[in-house]
This record gives sequence, structure tokens and C-alpha cells, in this order.
Amino acid sequence: MTLLDGKKISNQIKDEIAAEVAEIKKRGEKVPHLAAVLVGNDGASLTYVGSKVRSCERIGFESTLIHLPEDTTEEELLAKVEDLNLDPGIDGYIVQLPLPRHIDEQKVLMAVHPDKDVDGFHPTNFGKMALDMESFIPATPFGIMELLKRYEVETEGKHTVVIGRSHIVGRPISILMSQKGKAANATVTLTHSRTKNLQELTLQADIVVSALGVPNFLKADMVKEGVVVIDVGITRVPDESRERGYYITGDVHFEEVSKKASFITPVPGGVGPMTIAMLLKNTLLARERHGL
Ligand code: GUN
Repeated sequence: MTLLDGKKISNQIKDEIAAEVAEIKKRGEKVPHLAAVLVGNDGASLTYVGSKVRSCERIGFESTLIHLPEDTTEEELLAKVEDLNLDPGIDGYIVQLPLPRHIDEQKVLMAVHPDKDVDGFHPTNFGKMALDMESFIPATPFGIMELLKRYEVETEGKHTVVIGRSHIVGRPISILMSQKGKAANATVTLTHSRTKNLQELTLQADIVVSALGVPNFLKADMVKEGVVVIDVGITRVPDESRERGYYITGDVHFEEVSKKASFITPVPGGVGPMTIAMLLKNTLLARERHGL
């Protein structure tokens, strides 16, 4: 069994980006600038955004965190988005999800200029991705593809079963894995809460991507020997005995499933760190595409 070490690979990618930033600085050009908009004080979102900002500092990007109060109106947020669209100093930005319930998420994501949409959530980028055109690929699926590539995991003709059809992970990874251009060429089954006989499908899978958010969902009796397992779940389980008051766990019963797997991602340290690395990569690409 080979551990797909997202922490290690993400550090490699960050080092590669940092080397490019050093070159940009040497030429006296403007370094990439990523901004993040956070509305409210959701604990997980604060952690993610904080981690994104720290990563920017580490690799030499400029970063701006725009932290707005929970009671920010949709109108105020849309005005902030428009400011960012027009600010020539910002190469790319993200609006951290989830947004408070009184704000229409789709309306906000639609307002992000596609050329600055480093999350790849705008319909223009999503559509371009589906059509194999140059776009921003959402960071989590992009990270999964990169992890498979760097470990030289064979995907051609392999049956990939994706669990979960979210717009952020399940749906885009099912598209990317089936594509010709990105060297995946897998055969994909996209499963979800209404799927019948899920176990029958996962037992046929050469690759399982689980993006469900249910701890220990995927057990050893659901996978075949030699399976490749990508665990996208990041669930916070309350635990008073820990300093932080919780621990992080994935969708996969790691202890059981790792005994049958040929490759498997750990949680934490698998897909999570790759997501941040690929967001930085997208920001670097945004800077290049803007011709700065
Ligand atoms: N919330 C959970 N994952 C993500 C992500 O990749 N981007 C943003 N903006 N919000 C998220």
C-alpha cells in the first residue's frame, strides 16, 4: 500500500510556485495577489481562510483577507465583489463558502469575474472545464488529479466510482476523470444519496473518490483488493479530550480499507493540503493569463 501523501506533494508544489515567485521578483514584476472574502465566523471557514493566507505569505504571494460581519447584506457583499473585480492589483480571489443563509450564494458566485475566479465556481469556468477548454479548475478536484499524476496512478480505462455529486467536488471530479485531454481517460460512475446498491458499484471500482462528509462511511466490505481510495471527507468530530475540542476524520474507515488498497489518501494530510496548493497554482495562472 502506498500512502498518497498530500502534505508532501503540496509542499513540493508550493516550493515550485515559490521558485517562480522568486523569478518574478528578480524581474522586478508584481507578485501574484490572492484575496479571500469571509463572511461571518464559521469555525472551519476561519481555519481554511487562515491557512490560505499563511500559505500565501510562505510562498511570497501578496494576500488580502476581507473579513465581513455575519450580518453583511447581499448588496454589500456584491459591492465588495465588484470592487475586487475592478481592482487591478488583485489577480484572483475567492468567496469562502458557505455564506450566511440570508445571502444568495449563486448570485454572489455569478458576480465573480471569471478571469479572477480562482475557485473555478463561475458557470463560465465550469462550462469551459466540461468542454476541455482552458479555465480555472476547482482546487479540490484539481488537487486530486495532481496527486494521482504525481504518484503515477494508472487511470486509463479504470472504473472510477465517485460518491457525492456536489458542485465543488463530486461533479467536477467525475468530469475530469472521464476526460481525454487531462490524461485521465477513466470510466466514471457518479453516485449520490439516491443511488441504489452503492456497494455493488463500489465493489467494482478500481478507484473510489468519496466526497460525502460521513465519517467511516466506506468500509472494507465495500471495496475490492488493490483499490485506489481518495478520501475527500473532512468532518469535525467533537472530542473534549483534544485541545481543539474536535478531531478531523474522513469518509473512509482508514484502518480497514488501507489493508485492501494499493493507494490511499490519509485524513488529515491527503486531499486537504492539495486544495490549498492548487488554489495558489490557480492564482499564479490567473496572473499569467491577465498578462501582468
Ligand atoms: N468551502 C469549502 N471548500 C471551499 C473551496 O474550495 N472554496 C471556497 N471558496 N469555499 C469553500
